[in-house]
Amino acid sequence: MHMTAKAVPGQLIVSRQASQVAREASARIAEALRDAITRMGKATIALSGGNTPRESYALLARAEGIDWSKVHVFWVDERAVPPGDDRSNYRWAKAELLDRAPIPPDQVHRMMADSADLAAAAGDYEHTIREHVEPDDDGVPAFNVIVLGVGDDGHTASLFPGESTVDVTDRLVAAVPARGAREARLTLTPPVLERARSVFVLAVGSSKRRALEAVWATVGDVHETPARVIGRCRGSVTWIIDHAAGGLPEPGPSAPVTG
Ligand code: 6PG
Repeated sequence: MHMTAKAVPGQLIVSRQASQVAREASARIAEALRDAITRMGKATIALSGGNTPRESYALLARAEGIDWSKVHVFWVDERAVPPGDDRSNYRWAKAELLDRAPIPPDQVHRMMADSADLAAAAGDYEHTIREHVEPDDDGVPAFNVIVLGVGDDGHTASLFPGESTVDVTDRLVAAVPARGAREARLTLTPPVLERARSVFVLAVGSSKRRALEAVWATVGDVHETPARVIGRCRGSVTWIIDHAAGGLPEPGPSAPVTG
């Protein structure tokens, strides 16, 4: 299937390489944080795990003009592993961002997916979000920034194909049961993703091409391709990808292509 940029919900930025994706992403996330701090006196951001955003987080830590004392950091999702585990999303955000930027420790809100009672941990995290994240008009917290990735199978956050989590509307955080080799998780739910003021979706490499085609197709099933929930986001959505992920013609040697 050949996709056009017109089907993409939001702005599409295609870079030549992963390093450019990271530069674009960190610059735009930094701008969104600075803007929130200017307007609201604080900024809230929820981070995804996975490999793709790591370099962006490292660059973000060095971005100029962010008053980190005003930033609250949350997670989009987390695996049921200890915080030092290689699979822990906290572990990588800590190594790349938290250890490099002067964020007050009490403003770093780890998702406790290593807790014995995941349902209770989900409820506690919802409480923490409500405490720190300004609500939208309908009372649902609206993060200033949410960073998302897309899995090769079309998942985003920990909303996986075939799981009912993508249908959750009455909770901000849900527990996702372990399945096969996949460990149990905690994840933000669609209502929270939908209300973020700025969503940045990062995808790199040809393994993402089919997933992005399914996400961007004008017709499709959110249960088969949960990342289609991104199409419901009410704020700004920016897709920052490389040409391999988009299956798009390689851009010329100059600047990124914006569509
Ligand atoms: C996770 C994520 C997940 C991730 C995608 C893409 O913890 O796994 O938050 O939703 O964004 O799986 O992962 P990659 O960046 O590794 O491709």
